[in-house]
Amino acid sequence: MPDHAAAFVHDHRDRMLDELKEFLRIPSISTLPENRADVRRAASWLVKKMRAAGLEHAEVIATEGHPLVYADFLHATGRPTVLCYGHYDVQPVDPIDRWTSPPFEPTVRRGNLYARGACDDKGQMYTHVKAVEGFLRHGPGRLPCNVKFLIEGEEESGGHAIAAFVPKNRKRLRADCVLVSDTGMFAPGLPTLDVGLRGILYTEIRVRGAAGDLHSGMYGGAAPNPLQAVAEIITACKDRGGKVLIPGFYGKVRRPSKTEISSWKRLPFSEKKFLKEEVGAAALTGEKGFSALERMWARPTFEVHGIRGGFTGEGAKTVIPAEAVAKVSMRLVPDQDPAAIMRLFAGHVAKVAPRGVKVTVRQAHGAPATLIDPDNRFIGAAVAALRDIFGKEPVFVRSGGSIPVVGLFTSALNLPCVLMGWGLPDDNLHAPDEKLAVENYFKGIEGTMRFFDRVGALGG
Ligand code: BES
Ligand code: ZN
Repeated sequence: MPDHAAAFVHDHRDRMLDELKEFLRIPSISTLPENRADVRRAASWLVKKMRAAGLEHAEVIATEGHPLVYADFLHATGRPTVLCYGHYDVQPVDPIDRWTSPPFEPTVRRGNLYARGACDDKGQMYTHVKAVEGFLRHGPGRLPCNVKFLIEGEEESGGHAIAAFVPKNRKRLRADCVLVSDTGMFAPGLPTLDVGLRGILYTEIRVRGAAGDLHSGMYGGAAPNPLQAVAEIITACKDRGGKVLIPGFYGKVRRPSKTEISSWKRLPFSEKKFLKEEVGAAALTGEKGFSALERMWARPTFEVHGIRGGFTGEGAKTVIPAEAVAKVSMRLVPDQDPAAIMRLFAGHVAKVAPRGVKVTVRQAHGAPATLIDPDNRFIGAAVAALRDIFGKEPVFVRSGGSIPVVGLFTSALNLPCVLMGWGLPDDNLHAPDEKLAVENYFKGIEGTMRFFDRVGALGG
């Protein structure tokens, strides 16, 4: 059925876009307690749509955190099974005043659909559901391969529930490969498969000084300042050249092969253009001796996400705050172990903390990096599917981002992962004006259908 996929997408464009908009109107922000009910609502919405698409056994699975969503369709006897993974939760929306249209009022402007979650990941994960619908409701009434869906509601806040679920449900999740659409294309029109994700270790540093806030004139010069202490701790963790100063941090870092690095040199990428068009700062930063792609894809990092404490309102207030908190994460690469890095980090912080303050370090979440060996038949099926659509050879890239559960699919379920994403470099993930190119939503549906076809053709 060479053109059934294209025809299905062509005939159902408007309805499928409207459905995605409906999904995007649900503010399923997993990290904020006040959105708990919305997260649940997004899960139920998804289950309803999965049933409508023809999937069976669709259900919301309660967990200690946000619910998981499961569904399957297992009637392609003797054919491989694809486990489709995605997440229906989204990141917070602040700073809200930087959005051109409100984050939960999806709006199309110049071929892009703007909304929180448009790309990451509702728009992308929903392509899998629509692909199933294309076969079951508007096509042959059967699927070329078997499918299982496992969708989580807290990927953006660490993926704890799914990490507990996967090892306990090996049988239920038995499959031949995992399909994830939660990454991006290297450039518009350039079909891309991702073969590497960085891991992450997310922590919080809490610094306590005096028993209460103090007048900075009366006590300044004698009392410790927790905000200054936070700054000192942070600068003792990374130097001005971007090198992480935690002893042992780089000990397990595996360098990419020469072949992989030289393949990156052939990608259409200019650091100058990247700085100007994507980053928009005065200069790129980071470790000397590595290209920007290498620094973002294959080197570990240390980043501060926020510092809280003291007075930040309008005007001036002279206070030595009693407490300060910093949110800090490290992106990890193969073969760094999050638990081991946490120990090194906590030890280093304790050592460099200035006198007079009490410092505690807490881990919020952690996951190792993923590296995919592209030499398997499921990646082959994805390459063929992408070639069919774009008429071009796909490129293999890595990403600097993390999808915590992906490592577990390989380590606990022993499954090869196919990371076939439809985002674009300027999709503003985690930022104001997040978007998805409308065309890429449809390409994603078509691509997933063609992938299912190619996987079916692999036989048992
Ligand atoms: N979809 C992203 C990860 C991603 C982004 C992969 C760009 C490839 C390219 C994912 O939803 C994400 O943002 N994950 C978080 C995970 C973290 C909060 C545990 C991340 O990377 O910050
Ligand atoms: Zn995502």
